[in-house]
Amino acid sequence: MRCPWWRLLLFLAAASVPCYWVYLGAIAALGPDPGKVLVDNLGQGALVMLLCSLAMTPLQRLTGWSGWIAFRRQLGLWSFAYAVLHVSAYLYFLLGLDFTGFTAELVERPYIAVGAIALLGLSALAATSNRGSMRKLGKRWKKLHRIVYPIVLIVLLHMLWVVRADAGRWALYATVAAVLLLARLPSVERKLAGRGRAKRVRSID
Ligand code: HEM
Repeated sequence: MRCPWWRLLLFLAAASVPCYWVYLGAIAALGPDPGKVLVDNLGQGALVMLLCSLAMTPLQRLTGWSGWIAFRRQLGLWSFAYAVLHVSAYLYFLLGLDFTGFTAELVERPYIAVGAIALLGLSALAATSNRGSMRKLGKRWKKLHRIVYPIVLIVLLHMLWVVRADAGRWALYATVAAVLLLARLPSVERKLAGRGRAKRVRSID
């Protein structure tokens, strides 16, 4: 199922959020440190998109509606786009485009190195998310795309390092991630698929 209208709607929504944040920054409505707020918002946006993309397969199993899968790739690519914007905003606002400073930060601040590993992983997934790569890699494509689960854990570690004092927000993301990871266990997947089938049969009756 292609769902072109829903995909266009998702595109417009995901593209307008960072534009809105930049607008708020331009009219001085992001507080005394707009650069930092922008970095934080984009980082959280990348994580939210990543979690939403992980929710698509369990939703498909649960409801039996294949339309969810059409959104999975788009959400994953948006997560990558937000992450690239997050790092660009960090380089521009927090480091003032000092690239030697970035190399020093990679060594001195482990959470920056951890974030860089997550970004590398997301880049590999984004680069191979097209049909051509799917065909070329065959069975290895599925295996490669399973790295999305360690990537989520790495991003959570990166975030925990940053928000230590505000662990409540982190705990919320971690709980959602744990539920989504559990939903991919074969036994849980079988149960979800069973419920999806039962729902479809009831709706036909
Ligand atoms: C080279 C890669 C990365 C760098 C250099 C980086 C840098 C940073 C920095 C400097 C902060 C803290 C900003 C502050 O002082 O408050 C931060 C926070 C964060 N980053 Fe990254 N990051 C990277 C990759 C990623 C990726 C790939 C994701 C998600 C997919 C991500 C998600 C987050 C989140 C969720 C936060 C916490 C935001 C908050 O406090 O609300 N980061 N990152």
